[in-house]
Amino acid sequence: MTNQFSTLPGQLLAGKVIFLTGGAQGIGRACALAYAAAGAHVSIADRNLAAAEETAAALPRKSLAALCDVGDRASVEAAIHRTIAVFGRLDAVHNNAGISSPSSPLHQTSEEEWDALFQTNVKSIFWTTRFAVAHLAAARGCILNTASLVGVIGQSQHAAYVGTKGAMISLTKAMALDYASLHIRVNAICPAGVWTPLLREWASQQQNPAEIESYLDRIHPLGKCPEGDVIADAAVFLLSDMARFITGCILPVSGGAELGYRA
Ligand SMILES: NC(=O)c1ccc[n+]([C@@H]2O[C@H](COP(=O)([O-])OP(=O)(O)OC[C@H]3O[C@@H](n4cnc5c(N)ncnc54)[C@H](O)[C@@H]3O)[C@@H](O)[C@H]2O)c1
Repeated sequence: MTNQFSTLPGQLLAGKVIFLTGGAQGIGRACALAYAAAGAHVSIADRNLAAAEETAAALPRKSLAALCDVGDRASVEAAIHRTIAVFGRLDAVHNNAGISSPSSPLHQTSEEEWDALFQTNVKSIFWTTRFAVAHLAAARGCILNTASLVGVIGQSQHAAYVGTKGAMISLTKAMALDYASLHIRVNAICPAGVWTPLLREWASQQQNPAEIESYLDRIHPLGKCPEGDVIADAAVFLLSDMARFITGCILPVSGGAELGYRA
């Protein structure tokens, strides 16, 4: 299925340079396409270089694909350095790369799985912030984190992943306060479900994968599990000057999945 983008003013992100992690596929790819359509240059930092290059080639303006492991200090430093060398500025960092396995309660999660989750989903923010903050301050830019609704409301059989998403949400609030004086806005988006390779992998690990598609539709009161375009449209808004007075916001883009009791 292809992503269907709603109509966006083409200049919302005109001339901005966005460092986007995990932009090779899934939600990140949808964001890369939407950012470029809104006028931005996108630097895609991903451990899958071939797919990142394929996404970069699909963008309508000058972009970059950088091989990057977001949990690795030297790798992140090099990718941000290269972004500055190519574009001369940095207006936004979108921390989006993430992993989600295992689907297990905490006591059945291995130490290696725990470490990998926190390295990729949380320590990555530590590194991108370390190497980007001065550039973002110069541009009065912003940071966007792809967290998850599970970091707000919890989820069974997924404890370590849920812990990383809760940490991302707390970090978003702390960083928003710390960097407000630098005029850097920091926000997070919380999807519920979004059909991407990551969700397909998670679905395949569930006890009854055949049931999972209708379950994923049912948890979204607006009627269906979406694709990445709905996240990308919200991300364009939060990175744009339309959101210039919004910081520390934990925005569900979830079709109402977090709301109340169901009939
Ligand atoms: N899909 C969902 O239902 C859903 C729901 C809530 C939150 N999220 C979050 O959205 C983000 C994107 O998820 P997705 O569904 O598009 O995933 P995905 O697996 O389809 O894509 C993730 C991308 O991140 C890259 N990546 C993974 N680890 C990396 C690393 N160490 N360094 C660099 N790149 C790395 C992958 O190569 C891939 O391109 C994740 O943070 C995920 O937790 C997804």
